[in-house]
Amino acid sequence: MSTIQLHTEIPGPKSKALHERRSKAVPRGLSHGTPIYVAKAQDAWLEDVDENRYLDFAGGIGCINVGHRRDEVVGAVKDQLDRFLHTCVQVTPYELYIRLAERMNEVTPGKFAKKTVFVNSGAEAVENAVKIARAYTKRPGVIAFEDAFHGRTMMTLALTSKTHPYKAGFAPFPGEVYRVPYAYCYRCSYSLKYPSCDLYCARHLEDTFKRVVANEDVAAVIAEPVLGEGGFVVPPPDYFKVLVDLCHKYGILFIADEVQSGFGRTGALFACERHGIEPDILVTAKSLGGGLPLAAVTGRAEVMDGPGVGGLGGTFAGNPLSCAAALAVLDLFELENLLARADELGAHFQRRAREWQSRWPIVGDVRGLGGMQAIELVQSPESKVPASEETKKITQYCYEHGLITITAGTYSNVIRVLVPLVITKEQMDEALDVLESAIASVCDQKGAVAQLA
Ligand SMILES: Cc1ncc(COP(=O)(O)O)c(C=O)c1O
Repeated sequence: MSTIQLHTEIPGPKSKALHERRSKAVPRGLSHGTPIYVAKAQDAWLEDVDENRYLDFAGGIGCINVGHRRDEVVGAVKDQLDRFLHTCVQVTPYELYIRLAERMNEVTPGKFAKKTVFVNSGAEAVENAVKIARAYTKRPGVIAFEDAFHGRTMMTLALTSKTHPYKAGFAPFPGEVYRVPYAYCYRCSYSLKYPSCDLYCARHLEDTFKRVVANEDVAAVIAEPVLGEGGFVVPPPDYFKVLVDLCHKYGILFIADEVQSGFGRTGALFACERHGIEPDILVTAKSLGGGLPLAAVTGRAEVMDGPGVGGLGGTFAGNPLSCAAALAVLDLFELENLLARADELGAHFQRRAREWQSRWPIVGDVRGLGGMQAIELVQSPESKVPASEETKKITQYCYEHGLITITAGTYSNVIRVLVPLVITKEQMDEALDVLESAIASVCDQKGAVAQLA
């Protein structure tokens, strides 16, 4: 039996009514990918207020890797609800926080001594990573990448690349942020080809130290091991090894922002493992909390002790409910074969998407690592002009036919897969059938327009 069940036009009458109330009560700046109002969710599906059931390729933007409302996560939170909700760890600490910090220090890449501090969101964690790097190195500069996304607070907007809608109108941003191209091979900034490029984009950092910012003024290089909002771009083998070695040559810390690529998404607990690197500071959030707000900064013990006593923290940072949920998430990764599942899902997606690529020229690139997969849509494979309008139509077709998807990419022309890793094979095929007919419908419309012209 199919999981997708649609009983009304989409969005249904109750969703539409809520959307009208929303327009009056909530600013337009908060946008929604799909105007469907959720009533409940379980594993890999969502049900809306009109009782329509959808498969979920967004997973709350990569927060639900272990699945919606897993019994283990809900049980751990309920258990904690009966004990205490909030004390503020800076006033009266609790064992859950310490236990989770110990687990994070254990499971993150690198055998060296580590320490972890918890905050509430990915952006807050990135802010703290920068504070820690500056306090430890006593240097101001941070190097970030084109197409990077690190959050919506002021410092993280300075680090984020995409102008619209994230940065436009919100300047001035904090200074001492320098930007260099990422290893986006499909659209190489230097018009080179891997492997003959010899990883020029990574080695070019040395040039940046001569022409842009002095190496002794740089505290950290921050990078996503796989670009998230920037379009699920996976750098080629050894790119990060070259980059990290260069950082260390100049006493610069390497910060890995694994807010989106972390927690099993790429078939390893952290994408850094797949690149064979050990960051000095690792930032995690999203799926760490299994659906509750929680973020972590984990790093070399001596680096993490850079800020003085009282320099880190926050009222709700590392709240007990989120810590309980995160411990359950880590248990689930140990008990269930979710990392292998991420690889299986990714391979299955790639097989289907490569068939689409051979049939429809709009599918310009198919790429990903483990369960972090995407297609980049273009007007033609030769021009690579982003097919942004068509991408919008495809996601709309998808939700109207029972599949929640989200886009990515600087040109909003990438459809990404952040499906809960517990999706069954039948559900995955059902979802991919919807995506396939969405692409077909847009390509057929385009064909019809071309014929008329
Ligand atoms: C790589 C990366 N860093 C940071 C953030 C910001 O996280 P948050 O929205 O929890 O502040 C995001 C959010 O999508 C992200 O993908």
